[in-house]
Amino acid sequence: MKADLLIHNIGELVTCASQGPKKGPEMANPGIHRNAGVAVVDGRFHTVGDSDTVLRLHDADEVIDAEGRVVMPGFVECHTHIVYAGDRLDEFELRIKGAEYMEILEAGGGILSTVRATREASVDELVELSGVRLDRLLRNGVTTCEIKTGYGLDTETEMKMLEAIVRLGDEHPVDVVPTFLPAHAVPPEYRNGAKGTPDDYVAMICDEMIPKAAKWFSDAGGETIFIDVFCEKNAFDLEQTRKVLEAAKKAGFAIKAHVDEFTNLGGAELAISLGAASVDHLDAISDREIGLLAKSATVGVVTPTVNFNLGSDEFADARKLIDSGCAVALSTDYNPGSAPCPSPSIAMAIACRYQKLLPAESINGFTINAAHAVGKGTEAGSIEIGKRADLLILDTRDHREICYEFGGNLVEAVFKDGIPV
Ligand code: NIG
Ligand code: FE
Repeated sequence: MKADLLIHNIGELVTCASQGPKKGPEMANPGIHRNAGVAVVDGRFHTVGDSDTVLRLHDADEVIDAEGRVVMPGFVECHTHIVYAGDRLDEFELRIKGAEYMEILEAGGGILSTVRATREASVDELVELSGVRLDRLLRNGVTTCEIKTGYGLDTETEMKMLEAIVRLGDEHPVDVVPTFLPAHAVPPEYRNGAKGTPDDYVAMICDEMIPKAAKWFSDAGGETIFIDVFCEKNAFDLEQTRKVLEAAKKAGFAIKAHVDEFTNLGGAELAISLGAASVDHLDAISDREIGLLAKSATVGVVTPTVNFNLGSDEFADARKLIDSGCAVALSTDYNPGSAPCPSPSIAMAIACRYQKLLPAESINGFTINAAHAVGKGTEAGSIEIGKRADLLILDTRDHREICYEFGGNLVEAVFKDGIPV
């Protein structure tokens, strides 16, 4: 049978195959076929098996001899804030000199400085600036990418960001998953009382922004959109988080939440109880909540690039999460403040060294588990018959090297839906 793409002589085909997200000990199994081949028809994996068998069953328009290299699923980046204008280079220097991340935000900088620049930018400018960042992610092997709003914090700019995110999805080869994050920080006009209190801002999110975003997104033909909240001291407390998540859930949004990045406010338990697809950061999660996460269908996302970038030597205890039976995903959290990093392999390199994850656990965390964290578990994140043919050829014969080497880029070729990009 004729295929569109056939890759043979694959030394290690890392499939990450799994029915659901990989939990606990399953995360150490990368699902390797040695001396394998794959055939792609209509953008999806049609045959996955021994190299010789695949060659016997198919001829193809494009035939690639992998010469013993590693082939793996495209990375799924499940948590980013790449739509923004301006930069945070001054803040970078302030932090080098000793200022704390949350202290800069409290003083009106940090996220709020990116808000000022983003409010000034047009949709076209945002698409152009963010397209460059999406290109960087693609070069590092990302084929599916979640992108959040959250630098508008007013209806007009949050909608502008959402439009930019949807346009990026239409115009760029990377699959984009949109997340609405108006509760990323309390905007200046609700801090100084000019427009009201932080609770008034939360009410505005629930009564005005969420319905408007839901309607615009469904009119634009969109399928799944997530809501997210930064549940943190000096951002949104537990009750405010609950209001936003519940209003969005009613309006049809799927749920994510930034929880326990610095302070445990009980956000993980709340988000898990509401059926969140993911809870993200988890630096300060309690043992009891780890138990709840392990029993749930929610994926725990850790972002070790944030700790690294903030110069911290403390990391979310991803080892304990996995050993307790949770499904853990990894993310760069690519954003201008806490993690200006477009490289999954750097995030994995840090996770291996500081969070004591094995390379296989890191790879499953950045593929199949991350796909489930963005509701794409049946479409992306593993090399299995019927799934979208998003794959990477690595310039190595051993999958562990993608975590072992750091600072370079072993991604030699990226295929999206079976097409080289
Ligand atoms: O995931 N903590 C909240 N949001 C981002 C940082 C965004 C920023 O600093 O601009 C995070 O760390
Ligand atoms: Fe984030």
